[in-house]
Amino acid sequence: SLSPAAKHKLPDIHILDSIASTNSYLMGKVPEQLTPGLVCVAEQQTEGRGRRGRSWVSPFGHNIYFSMYFRFPLAPAELSGISLVAGLAVVLTLKQLGVIDVGLKWPNDILYKDQKLAGLLLEVAGEQSGPSNVVVGIGLNINLSKTDAESIDQPWIDLKNIPGGESISRNRIVAGLVGNLFEMMGQFEKEGLMSLRDMWRQYDLYDGKSIQLQLGDRQISGVHRGIDESGALLVETEEGIKAYHGGEVSLRLA
Ligand code: BTN
Repeated sequence: SLSPAAKHKLPDIHILDSIASTNSYLMGKVPEQLTPGLVCVAEQQTEGRGRRGRSWVSPFGHNIYFSMYFRFPLAPAELSGISLVAGLAVVLTLKQLGVIDVGLKWPNDILYKDQKLAGLLLEVAGEQSGPSNVVVGIGLNINLSKTDAESIDQPWIDLKNIPGGESISRNRIVAGLVGNLFEMMGQFEKEGLMSLRDMWRQYDLYDGKSIQLQLGDRQISGVHRGIDESGALLVETEEGIKAYHGGEVSLRLA
């Protein structure tokens, strides 16, 4: 059995030069190797992964490739709002460090003036009845060269080009992420997404705006009306307000 000291040991941070993907690194570990709060950061990813099977441009040095492991007593199906919580933790961290003009785009992009600064990839594994293992993956652009960014297929920005972001050390960002994620994931576990919804809406850059949703080959136009308790997007059309889930749609301004 564990000694009292070992029980209260803080989780580790694994700092790597190069890895295929920090998310895959944690997802590949067996439960005995995983302490909740375990973090992996890398200077480079050779197979960085984005949402929807896309890749995440991950050149060596300067940027942040970050993954953190959590364990919840809940079933995977009850965790649908969790990626929104992670996005909130990223925005809060940046704001606390003086980068104020950043905000959220549902479900989990971090934007500055409609350009993507950071993206999140959450991976959840577990039996139907729980518990769940969750890896929160965050990619944050700090200093991308034009060549690095050539294959990015959407408007992007890096922290060095955002007011207040030019000279923040990566250590402070990583430390902020760890603290805020710990706290907010705890709050999510205890009280659910509703307890964080007002804060989310406050930072949501598209709330109340006219938007277009792409749902397979269907397009839906409407007004963004916030999120529900499961993290789904509420959209008002002529037929009333409907909820859409993160996996199935992509969102842009109309
Ligand atoms: C997206 O917006 O498509 C999500 C991008 C997530 C990238 C991060 S970088 C650290 C972690 N490891 C990965 O392979 N992906 C995430």
